[in-house]
Amino acid sequence: MLEVVSPWRFTFQLLLAFLIFLCTLDNVISGFTSSFIRSQWPSTDIPLDNEAFAVPKGYNAPQQVHITQGDYDGKAVIISWVTFSEPGSNEVQYGKSNHQYDHTAHGHTTNYTFYKYNSGYIHHCLVDGLEYDTKYYYKIGTRDSAREFWFQTPPTIGPDSTYKFGIIGDLGQTFNSLSTLEHYMQSGGQAVLYVGDLSYADRYEYNDGDRWDTWGRFVERSAANQPWIWSAGNHEIEYRHDLGEVISFKAYLHRYTTPYMASKSSSPLWYAIRRASAHIIVLSSYSPFVKYTPQWTWLRSELKRVDREKTPWLIILMHSPLYNSNEAHYMEGESMRAVFEKWFVRRKVDLVFAGHVHAYERSYRISNINYNITSGDRYPMPDKSAPIYITVGDGGNQEGLAGRFYDPQPDYSAFREASYGHSTLELKNRTHAFYNWNRNDDGTRVPTDSVVFHNQYWGSHHHRRRLKKNHQLWDATGYTAAY
Ligand SMILES: [Fe+2]
Repeated sequence: MLEVVSPWRFTFQLLLAFLIFLCTLDNVISGFTSSFIRSQWPSTDIPLDNEAFAVPKGYNAPQQVHITQGDYDGKAVIISWVTFSEPGSNEVQYGKSNHQYDHTAHGHTTNYTFYKYNSGYIHHCLVDGLEYDTKYYYKIGTRDSAREFWFQTPPTIGPDSTYKFGIIGDLGQTFNSLSTLEHYMQSGGQAVLYVGDLSYADRYEYNDGDRWDTWGRFVERSAANQPWIWSAGNHEIEYRHDLGEVISFKAYLHRYTTPYMASKSSSPLWYAIRRASAHIIVLSSYSPFVKYTPQWTWLRSELKRVDREKTPWLIILMHSPLYNSNEAHYMEGESMRAVFEKWFVRRKVDLVFAGHVHAYERSYRISNINYNITSGDRYPMPDKSAPIYITVGDGGNQEGLAGRFYDPQPDYSAFREASYGHSTLELKNRTHAFYNWNRNDDGTRVPTDSVVFHNQYWGSHHHRRRLKKNHQLWDATGYTAAY
């Protein structure tokens, strides 16, 4: 006997079938190229006598104060600063109460020359044995020139530790840079993942070291109070054979230390840290990375150390993007992609952040690992195990925006816009994270690309089942897309 199907039921079934079809498309939905054109502020550096670079008052007062994580798990910080008249004190006094410092740590001092430039006395002091989730106050310098700051340690390492990162790249020191920095400081971010190219001092004659100093004073407003996790870009290389300067990364390595030995790395240029629910791996685009090199060997080991049960969010930082559809720096990341991409897919890396290209771009989950020199797909394909690649080299430096994207937009590119800005990544729990790219719309911070990310480990069906009833999946609304 024939069953009579009601028109409503038929319509519902049709709609359901269409939705299922849409879901199967997933990563192959075409991308979006923003038509937003921002009014260009001059991409020139802020003048040396501007308030943004103000030297702190007092004889030999510590300046360019910045902190970074000092160990593998977030229970230590490295506090750095510069003095100019004399080395001065190496001590950091610190404690849990304002103006009351129960502990003292002792650092060391270094300095360097670059052609005719002589650096100040650069101090680095490890403060370790800290408690998680605690506000610490610290004091550096002496007598009338002493300066006081504070920082907050991260929560205990754990799969549901919430944390909000900022992501900034290619900042430089223009008024656009200042806008980016001020917008980030309004965002509630707790630590910065910095994707390379810091001061752009190498754009000046003889790689003017004074512009390293102004940059240090410029970012102090944030970096003295929360850790910036450093990675190096091409503007940090500063190889000037013509000036007799043949040690690469000289100024960068003297000024910006990293806790590389805590992750068994042999170089400060590549290392890893764990913070809250994130395992963050920093790579160097401008150091050897092919098979058998120290960076290759280290990354292979570090990826094995990642424990997604403790740190579900696996994030990689580098400078040169592996996927980029901008005419600027097109294909420059291709050599590293050929070496490392298959590891990123195998280990289900969540996110790869890069800078270098002075525009914003986010990819779908795609990979290009099937190709070899004789056969296989020769272009990126949707791949649920692949990371999302995000280029956020739009901090606002003096080189200006990279405004020319390849047309048509490649299938792998989800969103792209040539504006200045920064990103925030808020890890909510082991399964979900809120992500925003915030455009500098002149004086205003405008969240422009907002996405909910599903964790690549806990978000998979296999591990989601293991969450059972006591870990209710969090329902997020108000964001434009989810993966
Ligand atoms: Fe760069």
